[in-house]
Amino acid sequence: MAVEVLTTADGRAKTALSHAHAARWREARAAGSPLAVGRAEPPMRPARPDKPELLPPREVPRRRTGTAQGRIALLHALAHIELNAVDLHWDIIARFTHVPMPIGFYDDWVKSADEESKHFNLLCDCLESWGSHYGALPAHAFMWRAAEDTAEDLLGRLAVVPMVLEARGLDVTPGMIEIFGRAGETAATEALRVIYAEEVGHVAYGVKWFNWLCGRDGLDPKEVFHGLVRRYFHGALKPPFNEEKRAEAGLPPDFYWPLADEVKDAPGTAGFR
Ligand SMILES: [Fe+2]
Ligand SMILES: [Fe+2]
Repeated sequence: MAVEVLTTADGRAKTALSHAHAARWREARAAGSPLAVGRAEPPMRPARPDKPELLPPREVPRRRTGTAQGRIALLHALAHIELNAVDLHWDIIARFTHVPMPIGFYDDWVKSADEESKHFNLLCDCLESWGSHYGALPAHAFMWRAAEDTAEDLLGRLAVVPMVLEARGLDVTPGMIEIFGRAGETAATEALRVIYAEEVGHVAYGVKWFNWLCGRDGLDPKEVFHGLVRRYFHGALKPPFNEEKRAEAGLPPDFYWPLADEVKDAPGTAGFR
């Protein structure tokens, strides 16, 4: 089921399949006869539509969010992130079946994939109501890099995807809700509120299974997290952090602050904070 989602290119078709498979998983669980996890061979990269054109981040044009065009560009970028998130959650389901995990691990990522699918569609609905659509603008090309880098390391995947990238979403979403709220864009504001509420859960699932794996092997989660982020994550952990929502997701400050300090102390980076 995961591989079927990953190999479907069109965003609306991918997310429809994602919803359908999540519902099937849930129903089987509720009936007390869970589907077998089995084994899978996910593609190295998920199938994607011909549009949007994927460009290196520097070449993706930036627009001011004070204009309608700028807000379309911002929502388009978010829709691209959500579509990647759909694939990321199905990918973690399919890629690590050789690591024996409790069934709750699959429950959590199926639920997350289901929610990301809703997020993508909510944002597409907004874009379409403004006369645009997903694919109308270029998008970030390197979004799948974190998945490739951690394709053979489940702890690394959990550290970088939910605990760094999705946690970053918690930091920046309130500012976006404000942008669309000020512009009187009710549907977009509501969509972002749904996303904001549900993303806390995705970070929490990451923390939960990261700690579980560390506990199983008698490892110190904080030390392991620092090592894996330094190894696999190429960006910077940028303050300000949403300390409250990160705490709600179970992500303590001593996990992320030491990594942010590293960036702050590095020469030539002060201006980027
Ligand atoms: Fe999302
Ligand atoms: Fe998410």
